[in-house]
Amino acid sequence: MVAHPLPVENGVSTRAWASSVNGKSRQIIIRDHDILLDVLRDGVGALGAKRGCDMGTCGCCSVLIDGKPKLSCMTLAVEAEGCEITTVEGLADGHHLHPIQTMFAECGGSQCGFCTPGFLVVCAALLESNPSPTREEARDAIEGNLCRCTGYQQIVDSIMEASEIISSEERLVSTTRPASNPDPEYGG
Ligand code: FES
Ligand code: FES
Repeated sequence: MVAHPLPVENGVSTRAWASSVNGKSRQIIIRDHDILLDVLRDGVGALGAKRGCDMGTCGCCSVLIDGKPKLSCMTLAVEAEGCEITTVEGLADGHHLHPIQTMFAECGGSQCGFCTPGFLVVCAALLESNPSPTREEARDAIEGNLCRCTGYQQIVDSIMEASEIISSEERLVSTTRPASNPDPEYGG
């Protein structure tokens, strides 16, 4: 979708901004220079995206833009115009937590929790692209996210355990899939 510039107001140019945030269509007026983190938190109410350093070093503000992890404090909102944006609020499927959320809780991947939303979206993106990462691949994926509490081992443990859940779910689906077409016309 193309952003529509609006008249300059008080010397600041504004525009209509429309994107999908956590599966819901959102349309608001933003200023051209607004960063995505502010638009998500103040404009959309997606408070899961956290402001840590505000300078691209901590990863607390990580969100997914079209499935790819991005630092929302370093992204202009206009750059995400028309994209699918996912914050931590969008990871669960209804009442069913994403496996990485479940495993963070079980493995101690979260302590004070301030860094956790950023880690969760980055880990979810990793597991989407690579459902069976090695510990080294898991560490590489989270290298842009800082945690002052956990020492990272529990976070890597959480990723590996979530990977097990995802793999077992995939095995279950593949073993319960019909082996042949049940339509009698085809002799199934
Ligand atoms: S708040 Fe964005 S990287 Fe720290
Ligand atoms: S759990 Fe406290 S900073 Fe990561």
